Amino acid sequence: MRIDIITVLPELLESPFQHSILKRAQTKGIVEVHLHPLRDYSTNKHRTVDDYSYGGGAGMVMCIEPIARCIDKLKSERSYDEIIYMSPDGEMLDQKISNQLSTLKNIIILCGHYKGVDERVRQHLVTREISIGNYVLSGGELAAAVVCDSIIRLLPGVLNDETSALFDSFQDGMIAPPVYTRPADFNGWKVPSILLSGNEKEIEKWRHEQSLERTKQRRPEL
Ligand code: ADE
Repeated sequence: MRIDIITVLPELLESPFQHSILKRAQTKGIVEVHLHPLRDYSTNKHRTVDDYSYGGGAGMVMCIEPIARCIDKLKSERSYDEIIYMSPDGEMLDQKISNQLSTLKNIIILCGHYKGVDERVRQHLVTREISIGNYVLSGGELAAAVVCDSIIRLLPGVLNDETSALFDSFQDGMIAPPVYTRPADFNGWKVPSILLSGNEKEIEKWRHEQSLERTKQRRPEL
């Protein structure tokens, strides 16, 4: 899979891709992540990529020209399955969307800033808009990192234990069961004895029941 991220703040996105699972996925050649500094596509000498809003009002708007130039260049090199704009008013990210995006070959993610992008970018250049929650971030970069993390960990070969993503919370519409590790007794707080029993069938049954119970209690809408 290849992910191209268009951003005015590439520095903000460097670290998330240089550690742990996201780094390993790239080293293994499972995913390629390319950052495209939007200012490189500005034609004015101050490398600006925003301008005042037509009709007045506070806040700058990201211009269509540098964005279109960058997207056109990328599209001339390969075809893209989805051009995603990160926006608080996009469709809400969930496991289903992450699963679906993880099956794609090439995607572009455009990070918004300031008051957002010129509406014509959304109308004509973008194919999908995604939000990571009902709150406003200062830019789309952190949201893009969240989307990428949720997708990349699903790609075959990324997680060591190939099956572990299958048992994530939400993957089957349920919350994951509680987990414990040593010590078996911490100041009298004991690990449920079933988990120490060695009875795999009973443990599996217990975990399933715990998942059901937790889902009912915490996230009944699932
Ligand atoms: N940009 C600003 N806020 C955002 C959010 N909640 N989700 C996605 N992109 C955003």
